[in-house]
Amino acid sequence: MKQPEIIFILRGATGAEHLALEGAVNLEARLSDPDRRRALVAGFYGFHADAEYCLAPWLEPVEGLDFAARRRLPRIGADLVALGGKPAPSRERPTVTSLGYALGLFYVLEGSSLGGRVIHKQLSHTDVDQRGLSFFDPYGDQTGAQWRAFIAVLDREHAAGRADSKEIVAGALDGFRLARMWLTE
Ligand code: HEM
Repeated sequence: MKQPEIIFILRGATGAEHLALEGAVNLEARLSDPDRRRALVAGFYGFHADAEYCLAPWLEPVEGLDFAARRRLPRIGADLVALGGKPAPSRERPTVTSLGYALGLFYVLEGSSLGGRVIHKQLSHTDVDQRGLSFFDPYGDQTGAQWRAFIAVLDREHAAGRADSKEIVAGALDGFRLARMWLTE
């Protein structure tokens, strides 16, 4: 599949943020310790709770996105309970003022399922257990199809002029900033 221009714009604008986030999350060390793992999953819960709450009014009406089914909060909540953790209180709810910003922010939430699946698969080859981590791989074999469907909607809204590229990038940058705030140990 030919990749739409907007995905190159997004990768160019946020590549460094992704790298910085990977460093800040310190995944390997935290997954090996029960208390740190619980805190990490609580961080993911808080990140998704605040973001999904603000995204819902903008993204639920978007045709072909199926936002409600993509929401990962219930799954992260179940994972957190499995680890004996409690939801963290809200910290910062992003102010969503355009569809472009909403789609850019959602790019960060959805994109984490790509890396998450890679990590989930890697763990299955180690003796680190996967308890409380099902949300890393929410789509299983459908990960590629779900990602392509999301990018198709993003591209359609961008090409139709309903989602401006500057707004999309602003939403994605804010998404990475919030992720770093919630997920840094
Ligand atoms: C902490 C360890 C992480 C690792 C090792 C990691 C690794 C990866 C990898 C390997 C991909 C590409 C997957 C593929 O093409 O099949 C990816 C994509 C992505 N990840 Fe991560 N990731 C991590 C955390 C995160 C987090 C916490 C977020 C956001 C909350 C995130 C957001 C994204 C996004 C938006 C993409 C899509 C990039 C694109 O193709 O445009 N990642 N990640």
